[in-house]
Amino acid sequence: MLLNRRTIRKYSSEPVEDKLLNDLLQKACRASTTGNMQVYSVIITRDPSKKDELAPLHFNQSMVTEAPVVLTFCADFNRFNKWCRLRNAAPGYDNFLSFFTAAIDALLVAQTLCVAAEAEGMGICYLGTTTYMAHKIIEVLKLPEGVVPVTTITLGWPGEKVEQVDRLPLEAVIHNETYHDYSAGDIDKYYSEKEKRADSQQFMKENDKETLAQVFTDVRYTKADNVHFSQILLGVLKEQGFMNQ
Ligand SMILES: Cc1cc2nc3c(=O)[nH]c(=O)nc-3n(C[C@H](O)[C@H](O)[C@H](O)COP(=O)(O)O)c2cc1C
Repeated sequence: MLLNRRTIRKYSSEPVEDKLLNDLLQKACRASTTGNMQVYSVIITRDPSKKDELAPLHFNQSMVTEAPVVLTFCADFNRFNKWCRLRNAAPGYDNFLSFFTAAIDALLVAQTLCVAAEAEGMGICYLGTTTYMAHKIIEVLKLPEGVVPVTTITLGWPGEKVEQVDRLPLEAVIHNETYHDYSAGDIDKYYSEKEKRADSQQFMKENDKETLAQVFTDVRYTKADNVHFSQILLGVLKEQGFMNQ
């Protein structure tokens, strides 16, 4: 099942029953969690009007309004901090390390839910737009201090059949014992298949680029965007109390 998986962006009209969703969430919350603190929360969005509010924050990707369920996974120290304070314990989690810890916890829950859902034959799509628009998502989902959305998935029954996309060969990403840095020859070897693919050639043509790498650097993930959204995200971390206040 894991070797055959692929992202699903179109969903059938079949509903996702509450019982099934609950079962998936139960399984997801069995994921490893730092110190068993469970410093995460998951926001379920089913209400079409709430999806309409979220859609523009995910750059109007159609999955947000079309999927029966949207799940926003949040790094969350709010609940744990409250527990500490109510139990005469002074929390020291207003820092970047704690955010990162909570983000790891949230992502482990997200990925475990995805694997559990796909094992049931369901389809998922991650939305990277969550970290770009965290400041607005915080408003729509009413996230208090100590809570930062780190990723979103759309979930439903597959409404499309899609080809699997490529991966680099395993040897390109695995290192035995210590890191083996890449020579220009290694890069040529590991990326040549990806570069030769018809879909890659199409991407280059559509975007009028000489190389596939330029499609990433100049179109899909530009420096200007990365710097802009980094600044916003750093502001969010400060606002939500994770920058050593
Ligand atoms: C953190 C993360 C963010 C992603 N964001 C988006 C997104 O915003 N929109 C989208 O269509 N796919 C998104 N994806 C899905 C990837 O495009 C997809 O996993 C990748 O192209 C490989 O395809 P596959 O999952 O079918 O193997 C995201 C995946 C990850 C892990």
